[in-house]
Amino acid sequence: MNDSAEALSGRNPFSPGFGKAPVSLVGRDETIDDLCESLRAGPDDERFTSMVMGIRGSGKTVMLTEVEDRMASEGWLVISVDGASSGLLGRISDMIGQASREHETPDLERFAAPVSKATSTGIKLGPYRKVWSAQTNPPQDMSLRERLTILARIAQQHDIGVLLTVDELHSAEKDEARRLANDLQHITQRKKLPLAFVGAGLLEIQYTLMEGKKNTFFKRCNPCKMAPLSVPDAIQGLRVPIEYAGGSIDDDALLAAARSVGDSPYRLQLIGHSAWKVANAPHGAIDEFAVSQAIHHADEVVARNISEPAFYDLSSTEQQYLESLVMLGEQGTNSRIATVMGKDERDVRGIARRLDLAGYIRRQSGKAAALTTLVPREIIIQECDLDIADTPHWAEIDTIGPSAPHIPSSRSAACRRWMPRSKAYCVLPRNHSGRCRSR
Ligand SMILES: Nc1ncnc2c1ncn2[C@@H]1O[C@H](COP(=O)(O)OP(=O)(O)OP(=O)(O)O)[C@@H](O)[C@H]1O
Ligand SMILES: [Mg+2]
Repeated sequence: MNDSAEALSGRNPFSPGFGKAPVSLVGRDETIDDLCESLRAGPDDERFTSMVMGIRGSGKTVMLTEVEDRMASEGWLVISVDGASSGLLGRISDMIGQASREHETPDLERFAAPVSKATSTGIKLGPYRKVWSAQTNPPQDMSLRERLTILARIAQQHDIGVLLTVDELHSAEKDEARRLANDLQHITQRKKLPLAFVGAGLLEIQYTLMEGKKNTFFKRCNPCKMAPLSVPDAIQGLRVPIEYAGGSIDDDALLAAARSVGDSPYRLQLIGHSAWKVANAPHGAIDEFAVSQAIHHADEVVARNISEPAFYDLSSTEQQYLESLVMLGEQGTNSRIATVMGKDERDVRGIARRLDLAGYIRRQSGKAAALTTLVPREIIIQECDLDIADTPHWAEIDTIGPSAPHIPSSRSAACRRWMPRSKAYCVLPRNHSGRCRSR
């Protein structure tokens, strides 16, 4: 639990923002224990360098922070930076300087002054915390590899470890990431010094940084994929903060809310936050009405903050693949999709593999691909201006020859109202008459 009951009393206990520590961190105990255990095991353990991967909002940053806090509390020197903008290597050097000023180990004095001005980073210190006042001339000409090596040697002498974490690694500059990887490989894997590494990034990192001849370090990192939250996890993640803050929720409402969380911790926070507001908690109990409103609101926010950006992260060919999949009624085998796209089947296989690794589709061998919840069908229909009524049924596609032109699409805004029972969005046009329909 991250806040005291007193501090939370009466306040909305949910935190629907990126990187914000939740009141109740659910479904991650085993992974966090495992990661920390492997760091303690030292450079001989293959999980000493790990890569946390997951879609947006799956809880990577929160998990990284938890691991950092635990290791810092055991006396480790933690250097945490984010890779989102250029200057990653300079930021790491800066953080070494800052850590050296604040950690009690006197041998660190030589790194005490900053190297660059970038500051979107942090350090964590354990029980050895002490402000180091000595100022010496920084070794400006010292390379990052030298700095990290000396730091790891000092840590070894003092029987602690150094943990370097890099969040948002998927958007790091390639050259900088490679240089860092070479340094880490040298220090951790060849010299066997206690410099542990945990990176975090979107799933596509698997075919950007973790693939290719030049990326052996990242390729060998222990992959740690963010698991979906189970319904019992979601129940706990909703109920505990509500009760902790003095509110209450009906059993049916709790179950409906937990079931609609899907696998996303971000969605859990959104639903909890908005149900709390709608019910005017803690004065009013959270009921099914409040939950259904909250789910509707969460759908809109997830579409805006997760699905739409994820769709536009894709190349136009990848978007075209998803569009074709929807047009084929989500029954698209590679050969059918290749026909619709007017592309070679081998190229389509490559696109499908990337989309699968990045969490947009799920492939099962010998079967057609299916969309995941990352970019649902309704978003593709909306963003591709598809008029789904014009879409041929997948069974008719065989009659289209290999050189068939791309099937045209036309505008039709969909209703997209969430239907909790069928756990799907309405596919009918906006302002349709009668009840919503999922298919
Ligand atoms: N295990 C969890 N239990 C409950 N809530 C969680 C959990 N993990 C994360 N959250 C909540 O989910 C939201 C997203 O978490 P976080 O920012 O860590 O995701 P992320 O994967 O780093 O996202 P991004 O890819 O956009 O950086 C936050 O509101 C956070 O409080
Ligand atoms: Mg994050």
